[in-house]
Amino acid sequence: MSTKNLHIGIFGLGTVGTGVVELLMKKKDAPGNYHFILEKVVVKNPNKKREIDVPSDFLSLNPDDILNNPAIDTVIEVIGGIHPAKEFVIQALEKGKNVITANKALLASYGSEIFNKAVENRCYLGVRASNIAAYRIIESLTTSPSKIEKLIGIFNGTCNYILTEMEKKGESFSAILKRAQEMGYAEADPINDINGYDTAHKLIVLLGISLGYFPPIKSVYTEGINNITLQDVLFARELGYRIKLVAIAKREEEMLEARVHPVLIPKEKWLARLEGIENGVEVRDEIGLEIGMQAPGAGKYPTATAIMEDLICISRGRGLFFPPRKSSITLKPIEKIETKYYLKFHAVDKAGVLAKIASILGDYNISIESVIQKGKGDKRKENEMVPVIMLTHRSREDNIQKALKKINDLPEVEKNPLLIRVEEGIF
Ligand code: HSE
Repeated sequence: MSTKNLHIGIFGLGTVGTGVVELLMKKKDAPGNYHFILEKVVVKNPNKKREIDVPSDFLSLNPDDILNNPAIDTVIEVIGGIHPAKEFVIQALEKGKNVITANKALLASYGSEIFNKAVENRCYLGVRASNIAAYRIIESLTTSPSKIEKLIGIFNGTCNYILTEMEKKGESFSAILKRAQEMGYAEADPINDINGYDTAHKLIVLLGISLGYFPPIKSVYTEGINNITLQDVLFARELGYRIKLVAIAKREEEMLEARVHPVLIPKEKWLARLEGIENGVEVRDEIGLEIGMQAPGAGKYPTATAIMEDLICISRGRGLFFPPRKSSITLKPIEKIETKYYLKFHAVDKAGVLAKIASILGDYNISIESVIQKGKGDKRKENEMVPVIMLTHRSREDNIQKALKKINDLPEVEKNPLLIRVEEGIF
């Protein structure tokens, strides 16, 4: 197989950029016909102390040293954020350079524009590193002759790490988050990890490349793990489940369900068994074929490796692997979904309260599968609140929401009960 030399410019020398430079340096001596020649790395601060020694003549502060450098044919964008990443990506494509980006936030917001620009300029756009949990199935998503029926994935290493450690070590959310940041899993600002937006961005990118349709971020129902406590993780375990933050997409003809939120998954399921930063995705197509992939979801080398795979594809002259397609798709509102629910109330432990809650649920046709109430027996004080956990049978989300509103008005129940949806997974 013939391969092409690539002359590379990199925007950014943070965690991922450093990993790419390290791998590029190693690859020079690796067997195989890949010749990747690093030409320039554009950084914000050339004097910053770094984990690797990059000779100073490789470093530049000036984006034009990449964008207007005719020797560079391939640009890697690993600065993150929307601006100036978007401008660098668009300009590089306009100048006929291939682009590889790890920037899921950018692709989720401007995916159509960027893919169109790549097609117009006959450039390769590599996006494997934007979703390393799924990068090895990206190609199957784009080349499968059958439509995807359902996709479910754990796409955020930080959240999976936090939820796993909570269950295993019984530590607080904030202590575990701090460790995830120190280990380079969480973004510099972890808010997008925790509130689910990083996962939603990755889902949008996968939908974009498989359907040619990038749903607007506002239309993807997104909830993070902010409200999940150690208590919930332990109750879920008692019920035979694990809590995971997942992205779900389901397709029925032109109707698409796309949502991100924590779920309870039966603990024996494959996704429930992915621990720490390990991420994974399961896909079922319309003829029932199921594929899956497991990969570390975050970190320097996993992300840099996904970038290297894109470089190898370009070097093999594989060209664009997902021309955008037009598609008329309507998103299903969250109120219309139907699933099982975990509900947690804090209620006064006295006669009739459980009956009142159950009666409201019954009014909305919500049937209860199991209940846990952790009373304090004779030690209980008057009007003390205790947690009441209910697992429902399959119910409609709009009914659940209406019932919770009514329950919220009961004086014996604390406001804003917690709701976590239940998901069976594919495998
Ligand atoms: N911060 C992301 C995560 C890694 O925790 O999964 C990069 O996508």
